[in-house]
Amino acid sequence: MRKTLSWLIVILLPIVVTGGVYALRRDMSQRNREWPTQMEYSPAAKPQTANAVLPYGMTEQLPVAGTIPRGFQPFHYSPGEEEEKRAGLELTNPFQPTAENLARGQHVFTNYCIVCHGPSGAGDGPVIPKYPNPPNYNSDKSKALPDGSMFHVITLGRKDMPSHAAQVKAEDRWKVILYIRKLQGKVN
Ligand code: HEC
Repeated sequence: MRKTLSWLIVILLPIVVTGGVYALRRDMSQRNREWPTQMEYSPAAKPQTANAVLPYGMTEQLPVAGTIPRGFQPFHYSPGEEEEKRAGLELTNPFQPTAENLARGQHVFTNYCIVCHGPSGAGDGPVIPKYPNPPNYNSDKSKALPDGSMFHVITLGRKDMPSHAAQVKAEDRWKVILYIRKLQGKVN
């Protein structure tokens, strides 16, 4: 028993003394010594950078297959006349021509469409005739164009009419169609 105790003192005493001296002499205004350092400085990878550790060798990962971003509405049509017709048969406007929806439609039209289509939809906006003439909304052909086909035109574009999917969200595209119907005298 005594032997063990003296051995313990022989081993522990130098450790305690060295530690104590070290602690007393330490400059408290400085950071403590760190070991091991790997966990304290974990690398914060920046987005859009190459990354040797993660799959595909990049920091940002691809979305899981089959998932869509929250609030995103997939549009299952390709460009072209046939697909425009199909959209006209399959899609219906989810919004009613209430005063509120028409006001929103007018707001969108005034901001994104009026330059070409003109205030009354006659195809006489300020950039015409420098830009190829858009059709008059008051023609029989335009009046007969179903909402779904219009949605297809606004979403994917058609000939000289560029796609407006990036600047006008789906909900607003339907509302601007309501406003076009108003310009055509089809809703009040
Ligand atoms: C840069 C000019 C331009 C802008 C901006 C523009 N359009 Fe057009 N739009 C056109 C042209 C040109 C056509 C005719 C395309 C063709 O040759 O079939 C057209 C056609 C259309 C048609 C089909 C009409 C029909 O009778 O066939 C709709 C609907 C339409 N545009 C809606 C819109 C809406 C809604 C906006 C705003 C969100 C908009 N456009 C913005 C130029 C434009």
